[in-house]
Amino acid sequence: MTDVPAREFTTVGVIGLGTMGAGIAEVFARNGHRVIGVEVTDAAVERGRQHLEHSTGRAVKRGKMTEEQQDEILGRITLTTEMKDLAVADLVVEAVVESLEVKKAIFRTLDSIVDPEAVLATNTSSLSVTEISTANSRPGRVVGVHFFNPAPVQNLVEVIRTVVTEPQVLADVVDLLRDLGKNPVVCGDKAGFIANTLLFGYLNHAVAMYEGKYASREDIDAAMRFGCGYPMGPLALLDLIGLDTAYEILDTMYKQGRDRLHAPAPLLKQYVTAGLLGRKSGRGFYTYE
Ligand code: CAA
Repeated sequence: MTDVPAREFTTVGVIGLGTMGAGIAEVFARNGHRVIGVEVTDAAVERGRQHLEHSTGRAVKRGKMTEEQQDEILGRITLTTEMKDLAVADLVVEAVVESLEVKKAIFRTLDSIVDPEAVLATNTSSLSVTEISTANSRPGRVVGVHFFNPAPVQNLVEVIRTVVTEPQVLADVVDLLRDLGKNPVVCGDKAGFIANTLLFGYLNHAVAMYEGKYASREDIDAAMRFGCGYPMGPLALLDLIGLDTAYEILDTMYKQGRDRLHAPAPLLKQYVTAGLLGRKSGRGFYTYE
């Protein structure tokens, strides 16, 4: 037990409103936080808005939420293209593309915008949280918070501490995630963290098996669903994650000296080059409406 009172994170900024960012914004808004979502262009803001409306609309259709509750949740979210609107945020979660340069530029910009007491978090899947944090003048207030896709559904969040993350910042973030109903797990700053390190060797192996024409995509997926009780087969899961994201994660893990398990299967790269990115582009291993 600590005698430090639990920290309030009333207003949460989310930078990037793609699949993960929009899902993270929804999680916070569902739990009563004010959310400021930032995107680079008006068109990207609009895509983020549609994602949020679609996701909460699905809950309304299933009878899990009333239209009034949906309006309340969406009403707590302000969307903007202005980073300076994050000045009032107690916590900022960055969820943009997996590019070290882009993420560092954002953390540099945040330096002159957010309150010195605010906590800064990155949702990176595999980049170095330590390296991202050095772009900011308060690396002690930076952590990784790695949500899983779909963020409103998956209860795991990995919390990544760097060697300089302040213990109180870590404790506050863990408490906050518990308040959101998530299961936080804490780990050090190593590419892949816990879950992706274990998961992606398996996913990559499934692509190699499909590439080698050993079995059909349906049978590979059926084997893991019906034989091992996984909610989705590996190829369907890759389509959900996004093949570009999956490629980047594997490539980063492989380059950081892990074993050949993580050398991305050539077919994965070919799909990405051809623009077959999974659900988000309408086609990956499977085709989507
Ligand atoms: N956004 C919000 N809610 C969603 C959703 C989405 N994209 N997709 C599904 N849901 C909700 C549904 O509304 C439904 O909610 P209720 O139970 O409250 O009605 C619930 O999830 C179940 O959905 P469905 O009945 O439509 O479908 P399902 O039972 O087949 O579940 C699934 C879909 C949740 C995606 C499930 O198949 C699953 O858990 N798959 C595995 C996902 C997984 O492994 N994710 C981790 C990927 S790795 C990662 O994210 C890390 C990284 O760095 C890449």
